[in-house]
Amino acid sequence: MAPADVHVPRHVAIIMDGNGRWARARGLPRAAGHRQGAEAVRRTVRAAGDLGIRYLTLFGFSSENWKRPETEVADLMGLLRHYLRAEIAELHANHVRLRVIGDRDRLARDIRVLIENAEATTRENDALNLTVALSYGGRQEIVAAVRRIADEVRAGRLAPEAIDEAAFARRLDTHDLPDPDLLVRTSGEQRISNFMLWQCAYTEFHFTPTLWPDFGEAHLGEAIRDFGSRDRRFGAVAPQAR
Ligand code: IPE
Ligand code: IPE
Ligand code: MG
Repeated sequence: MAPADVHVPRHVAIIMDGNGRWARARGLPRAAGHRQGAEAVRRTVRAAGDLGIRYLTLFGFSSENWKRPETEVADLMGLLRHYLRAEIAELHANHVRLRVIGDRDRLARDIRVLIENAEATTRENDALNLTVALSYGGRQEIVAAVRRIADEVRAGRLAPEAIDEAAFARRLDTHDLPDPDLLVRTSGEQRISNFMLWQCAYTEFHFTPTLWPDFGEAHLGEAIRDFGSRDRRFGAVAPQAR
């Protein structure tokens, strides 16, 4: 449970970074860092549920991560397969709903099937909404939405005057998610790396030097306390300054 005096963000998004550096610091192959990273995912999903977070979105693999060596991509896809096979039953038992965003056409067919089954199995769950971004890039998502809109306009199903922010957001992968309130990035990097570019317009950012494999409940709690100290104005004047 979260401390009673702390405002818990509804939607927390995390850029899980630093697996490679965690491994290198121990003289281990990068794959070992990714394996420990998967443990951190388990811990963090559990902690998010315990803290009362409704939406948790994890950046697992970016559209740019395809540029990594084939062996590393294969290691990451192997871990993903393992995670999907091993975790769905427990997620479902805990009433977690799983969604995947990103370009799944680039994923292997068996992984796509595992994802479809996991999404179908957990569709009615209403505890934590867990979204994993795989082969995901914010720009690619925006371009795909533009293309959908262009198709609908050309087919005469959408009038250009009807295109507003809400209509655009409905054509993004995140159409059924609220915007993130808090974005956490681990490993000390302070950049967005093409993650949820549209959705993070008014998101609060929390950067921590902790490497992803070391992340857990205490770090998530710290991020939430930091979030609680922010004054979100959304462009307006703060109430106490009026
Ligand atoms: C995050 O850790 C995992 C993915 C991006 C898939 P990295 O693999 O980026 O680790 P560093 O940044 O090299 O330490
Ligand atoms: C961002 O991390 C992508 C994920 C965490 C999945 P990267 O390690 O790929 O980002 P850069 O290359 O340092 O910007
Ligand atoms: Mg990295």
